[in-house]
Amino acid sequence: MMMDCQKWPEPVIRVQDLADSGLITIPKRYISQIPTTTRHNASFSHDDVNIPVIDLGGDPEETVRLVGEACREWGFFQVVNHGVRHDLMRSAKAVWREFFNQTAEAKEEFANSPVTYEGYGSRLGVQKGAVLDWSDYFFLHFMPASLRNKSKWPAIPSSLREAVDEYGEEVVKLGGRIMKILSENLGLQEDYLLNAFGGEEGIGGCLRVNFYPKCPQPDLTLGISPHSDPGGLTVLLPDDHVSGLQVRKDDRWISVKPLPNAFIINLGDQLQIVSNDIYKSVEHKVVVNSKSDRVSLAFFYNPKSDVVIEPAKELVTKERPPLYPSLTFDQYRAFIRTKGICGKSQVQSLMNCNNN
Ligand code: OGA
Ligand code: NI
Repeated sequence: MMMDCQKWPEPVIRVQDLADSGLITIPKRYISQIPTTTRHNASFSHDDVNIPVIDLGGDPEETVRLVGEACREWGFFQVVNHGVRHDLMRSAKAVWREFFNQTAEAKEEFANSPVTYEGYGSRLGVQKGAVLDWSDYFFLHFMPASLRNKSKWPAIPSSLREAVDEYGEEVVKLGGRIMKILSENLGLQEDYLLNAFGGEEGIGGCLRVNFYPKCPQPDLTLGISPHSDPGGLTVLLPDDHVSGLQVRKDDRWISVKPLPNAFIINLGDQLQIVSNDIYKSVEHKVVVNSKSDRVSLAFFYNPKSDVVIEPAKELVTKERPPLYPSLTFDQYRAFIRTKGICGKSQVQSLMNCNNN
């Protein structure tokens, strides 16, 4: 049977409304099927284990080395001295909090559909009966600039559009800087990765603002199930006060402790593919809690939708043949957009079925 990808398979329920209704047991649909041990054992939540923190204002050569090391060992790191103004980070978070604090009716005006996902949403994937995550989101296109349609962005609070615009510009610059650092670390020309992604004008950029409401039974559900990000780089601005992000390190989940004013950077599947597995996109998930809701801004720095992504020729050798077939990013992302999120199953299923 063909799946209808034009609309959601079931009536949409906003998790925030569920949480606000004061229920004490969560509906069955939100109960994660992932075994509790995998779901919640953050074996290392001691203060002494955290993802690497890198000062982007330090010695450039040392920065390249440290970023490269973090990408190979973790696929995740935090950056400080990243050049994005702290007041802009604060206001970007504040306007989105205000958006989610509006009435249900005001938010419904932006209700999204699975055709583009733009707008206010509560699920990923269109499979009927799927288990759902404990979160709502707002998703918007930022790059290429031709897709930046501000009339689809909330106009309340009145400062939202300008704050998001300014924030996005700065984050795109930061993403570009990190792409150069990665190119250099891989021994490629400085602009290699940017060009592979479609160049400055071509690259894709989307913002996903995640809202994780309080949950009366946080141990039974997840804010986001384990997944790797399908795109290039993710620049995540986490909540200042509430943690929840966990990153897979070997067989363990590590709770990330966000530093004030830092960004969390992680690599997506497209960089795993272009680097021919020198870098790995790493699985992560979000846990929720019963005390506070949480807001995070995930900016996805992606390849242009119709650009073909494949292992860099420079990184392919006789000993290390291309591990992945060539696919456009649109072809790649169709999977997550219909089936929802599912660990690293997609990039793993492509491995070694290369077409040459
Ligand atoms: C995502 C994501 C993590 C977080 O949006 O892809 O992994 O902390 N978010 O909200
Ligand atoms: Ni993610």
